Amino acid sequence: MPQRGWWKRGVIYQIYPRSFRDSNGDGIGDIRGITRKLDYLTWLGIDAIWLSPVNPSPMYDFGYDISDYYDIDPCYGTLSDFDELLEKAHASGIRIIMDLVVNHTSHLHKWFKDSSSARDSRRRDWYIWHDPVKGREPNNWKSAFGGSAWEWDPHTEQYYLHSFLKEQPDLNWRNPEMRKSIHKMMRFWLNRGVDGFRLDVVNWFIKDDRFRSNPFTIKPLDPEKHKYDRNRPEVHDYIKELRAVVDEYDARMTVGEVFTLPPGNPELSASFLGNGEDELHMAFDFSIMYRFWSARRFYNCVKRWYREIPHSGWPCNVQSNHDQPRGRSRYMGGVNSEKRARVAAIFLLTIKGTPFLYYGEELGMKNTSLRRNEIVDPLGKRYWPVYRGRDCARTPMLWNSKTNAGFSDGRPWLPVDSDYKKLNVKAQRKDRYSMLNLYREMITLRKKHPALNRGEIIPEIKGFKNVLAYFRQEGDETFFIALNFSGKERTIHAGERGQWRVMLSTHRTIREHFTSLTMTLAPYEATVVMRIGEL
Ligand code: NOJ
Repeated sequence: MPQRGWWKRGVIYQIYPRSFRDSNGDGIGDIRGITRKLDYLTWLGIDAIWLSPVNPSPMYDFGYDISDYYDIDPCYGTLSDFDELLEKAHASGIRIIMDLVVNHTSHLHKWFKDSSSARDSRRRDWYIWHDPVKGREPNNWKSAFGGSAWEWDPHTEQYYLHSFLKEQPDLNWRNPEMRKSIHKMMRFWLNRGVDGFRLDVVNWFIKDDRFRSNPFTIKPLDPEKHKYDRNRPEVHDYIKELRAVVDEYDARMTVGEVFTLPPGNPELSASFLGNGEDELHMAFDFSIMYRFWSARRFYNCVKRWYREIPHSGWPCNVQSNHDQPRGRSRYMGGVNSEKRARVAAIFLLTIKGTPFLYYGEELGMKNTSLRRNEIVDPLGKRYWPVYRGRDCARTPMLWNSKTNAGFSDGRPWLPVDSDYKKLNVKAQRKDRYSMLNLYREMITLRKKHPALNRGEIIPEIKGFKNVLAYFRQEGDETFFIALNFSGKERTIHAGERGQWRVMLSTHRTIREHFTSLTMTLAPYEATVVMRIGEL
């Protein structure tokens, strides 16, 4: 199915495998479960699945701590289940992107076992080891999950570095042999047919070679300025190597998670695109996830984002993932949260750049409220009740109104959201006006019209009175998108004359005609119109 540049036109759907569909009744979603739901994904119209990690893992961080890069965790299935998924997905025109978690491995990975076995072990330098300094940790670097980033190993009497849990030791990206092993592993999956990788915390791979302590700042979320343990400029040389590996194959792609605290640094994210052709194909900018609901704030985020993208680079856009509260809960709005989520959906699917959806987003799933004893995320356990962790956005997909929302015949690993009776796939498929059908219609329209997937974006109303409006244009196709972020009626006048037809709307009848772009938008209206001729 090679087709260069598919990822620019496509819509990518993130599956958190534990929570999508359980095929064997153990309460944990699995690969066969996903394969069985390919018909749903085809119906929805997505082009690719980004699969959060499915490799063997002791699950201290639910798969983001890999103990074998060459296999599949038994709770998700087998390599042949994976091959079957790949084959069937490809047959349905859906690509598969794997999570490449290579800033660190699990402490149970054989590389770390060897590395920690003796100071002169073959792979000692594959991880980051350091002697104590004045009898203590070598510097002030902190783990993102709390406490020092250094763990004392009594056996070899040195500290090792872990940017996350102590069960997730950081790999030493300065070691060429280690990098070669990562490249080999990437080829293993590329040869199997995977279509690309999402690179976990790609901006953390390289650390200062002199291990200097970070300066302090007064930022509330993170009192450290990560000058020496993250965002090192040297990282780009190694990203170019990864890109070269992926480029040995046809039509594969990479997308990087560029994680900062506070989240969102478009300039840094865009730096991972290199000159637009020599580093990653795409990188996430999370700025929008931390902006309150406002047309102007959303506009400013994308404006800054586009400004940073190199000339031949390409943006991607995302509103939800497995680390953040679900979009619909963040937009707040009380009884209007569903309406806001619809506006956000049309925004995501009509701005320039590849949209990434997070499973359940298309249903309007909200955060699930969980009790302390239901929390399994190490972050939630550690920081409860100040921070309840990420489980609220990882609860099972809602398929129908039966037991466990059709997710599993067993006891789900996380509780099923109490909204499942009305907020499920089956009910929403039947309802013409559901959130799910809105997503589907918008995806279909987006795929059909080049102006909506690869066209230029020309802003018209940049958040004035909480309205956002813009044109998308490609060849002789022009679309106009009007989004009312406010709970009040708003009348807008856009300069363009001509004949326009409503192609999709949260409030209007499809095919309604306009001869000028003067329209009164209902509260939380999102409307997409297409130019059909001159006046
Ligand atoms: C970012 C991932 O998205 C998150 O879920 C994980 O905990 C950390 N990286 C560590 O791998």
